Amino acid sequence: MSYQDRFSLTGKVALVPGGGGAIGAAIGKALAASGAKVVLVDVTQERAAAAAAPIIEAGGDALALGADITSETGAEQVVAAAVERFGKLDIIVNCVGGGAGKVLFDAQDYPRDAWDWIMELNVRSTLVATQAAVRQMIAQGHGGVVVNISSVRADLGINAGYSAYVAAKGAISSLTRQWATEWAKHGIRVNAIRPTFVDTPQVAMLLDDPAFKAGIVSRIPLGRVGDTDDMTGPVVFLASDAAAFITGQVLGVDGGLTATQ
Ligand SMILES: NC(=O)c1ccc[n+]([C@@H]2O[C@H](COP(=O)([O-])OP(=O)(O)OC[C@H]3O[C@@H](n4cnc5c(N)ncnc54)[C@H](O)[C@@H]3O)[C@@H](O)[C@H]2O)c1
Repeated sequence: MSYQDRFSLTGKVALVPGGGGAIGAAIGKALAASGAKVVLVDVTQERAAAAAAPIIEAGGDALALGADITSETGAEQVVAAAVERFGKLDIIVNCVGGGAGKVLFDAQDYPRDAWDWIMELNVRSTLVATQAAVRQMIAQGHGGVVVNISSVRADLGINAGYSAYVAAKGAISSLTRQWATEWAKHGIRVNAIRPTFVDTPQVAMLLDDPAFKAGIVSRIPLGRVGDTDDMTGPVVFLASDAAAFITGQVLGVDGGLTATQ
């Protein structure tokens, strides 16, 4: 295999839960541009289809599905539909999550309903989708790849009411290492990316405040927040054979933020 071929995803089938979201849609496009057939899943089929449209227009293969990926039945149906359409499943990139700035409470009073919502959206979605995908990969018997999305918040506290989100992203980083350890025997690699702020609708309210944004940017050595395209290269790399000896890693995609801590 040539060096260049190692970065190609030609012949691979990739599942992207949250593929209708800001980061998920960009990742879906990048996986398809790298040769993968992609299955984009979101809460509604319409949301997934909007992200699939530019892939199909560009000549790629994309299937758009609506499902609740936190439900075991939903996740199993999605995996079955991916296999029915494309014959197998090689890659899952978990892009459901977020809610960071939406439920901010003092740690000592953090309410249970907000805690449960953040855990469900971030941890349960990643857990349930990955379980369904990995059962399929194990049954196929030729390995696979899982890429999760953690956050710098897994490693950095923030004095702004983020208890549930830091716990959720900490769990995702920990599960990335745990799953890598357990599933290596099946040839399944598990890694994560760990972004800082990415300019998306989820965090627009925060980044629209010039003082808040200036404070964030001043701490990032590369002098800007991320954009969705910044997430795509690292994910494609981790999904590809170029990363064949990398597993259990949480890759900072943060403009150098965590290097300063
Ligand atoms: N935006 C940032 O600044 C930032 C920074 C670090 C990490 N992240 C992480 O990146 C990931 C994606 O973030 P984003 O900004 O693209 O968010 P987003 O809200 O644009 O995308 C998430 C998508 O998941 C879908 N979704 C939610 N629940 C679902 C369910 N039960 N079943 C199926 N689909 C569901 C949503 O409809 C949405 O389209 C999240 O895990 C987030 O925590 C984001």
